[in-house]
Amino acid sequence: MPISEAMNKKLNTQITNEFLASQIYLSMACMFEDMGLRNLARVFRKQTEEERGHALKILDYVLENEGKVRLQAIPEPPAEWSTVTDAIAAALAHERKVTGQINELVALADQEKDYATRSFLNWFVDEQVEEVNSMSSLLQAAKLAGDRLLQLEAYIAHMIRE
Ligand code: FEO
Repeated sequence: MPISEAMNKKLNTQITNEFLASQIYLSMACMFEDMGLRNLARVFRKQTEEERGHALKILDYVLENEGKVRLQAIPEPPAEWSTVTDAIAAALAHERKVTGQINELVALADQEKDYATRSFLNWFVDEQVEEVNSMSSLLQAAKLAGDRLLQLEAYIAHMIRE
């Protein structure tokens, strides 16, 4: 069954939202790299790729379901944040925002009785739970480390190894 026009439009917007998340994390990775925080930069680089993957996953779904992909301009991400903790808090806030956007898509799928899209979106619902949790843990670690950024780097090195 082809997706509705309303769903098509909202999925196109979500493609942009996911690319924006990717850009924000890349900008954060650059700031961390600049500060010599290699491990933190690595985590955010990886996250950049994941978000790009999310955008492409939605794009493929639109194409497979007789929709039309309309790529939009991606808003410019901030270039810096005052502290590492502020940056990670902004990343967590962004993940929560994305969760809200996914929930809106789910609500539309329910309203339209579009069970295929509802099922497709389940992956994103689960993914958001995981991403909010991991960003929340990272924020907690950053808050505990405070100015001792090398401790945060060591914690992340340990986390990456696990
Ligand atoms: Fe794809 Fe983390 O939002």
